[in-house]
Amino acid sequence: MANVQTKSKPPKAPSKLKAPVKLKTSALIPKMLNHAAYVTHDVAATVEFYTKIMGMELASSVFDDRIPSTGDPFPYFHVFFRMGDGSTIAFFEAPGLPEAAAPAHPAYAIFNHIALQADNADEVMRWYAWLKQHGLDLVGPTNHADEFLSIYFHDPNGVRLEITTPLDPKWNRHTDRARRDLELWLDTKERARREGRDIPAALIELIRRERARYQPR
Ligand SMILES: [Fe+2]
Repeated sequence: MANVQTKSKPPKAPSKLKAPVKLKTSALIPKMLNHAAYVTHDVAATVEFYTKIMGMELASSVFDDRIPSTGDPFPYFHVFFRMGDGSTIAFFEAPGLPEAAAPAHPAYAIFNHIALQADNADEVMRWYAWLKQHGLDLVGPTNHADEFLSIYFHDPNGVRLEITTPLDPKWNRHTDRARRDLELWLDTKERARREGRDIPAALIELIRRERARYQPR
């Protein structure tokens, strides 16, 4: 019987973006991933998977009968698993919580994922062999335009995991390109809206045009 109440309402999304906060961009920056948290309906299987297969330590736990931040009366057991740099993946098992509804489109189950870093391509392949040996369904290895080498699989909760290594040492320093691409994306949407064109079609055109840059030189 479900004993989790659902009286809380999600916060309202702002109707439009506020003007940027006037801070120096370097003044505040998150230092690392502290934790990414998901729901589990089987904490035993989750502990087994993250400690024995993923090699992560069961690092902390919390019991509570309400959510401290919101006050919602959702009882839970919360566990954290630690990775090599001290960052963690966390889970909540909440008594009586119904299974989540299926996503509206299969793309959600692919786009939503968390990527964990390996030291190099050899290590990605060692993960591949190790996970295969444990009977996991694996996708990859996939070379992403010589920026990453990745393999993909799911944990017992259906969370999509990626083990990846950057092949491009500057993979997270392509800021100029990212800014230009963002401008292209937003301009394309805005122009299509102004001209009464189909916005997804305009964006797909943009994607296909820009893909040319990834062709082998
Ligand atoms: Fe990814």
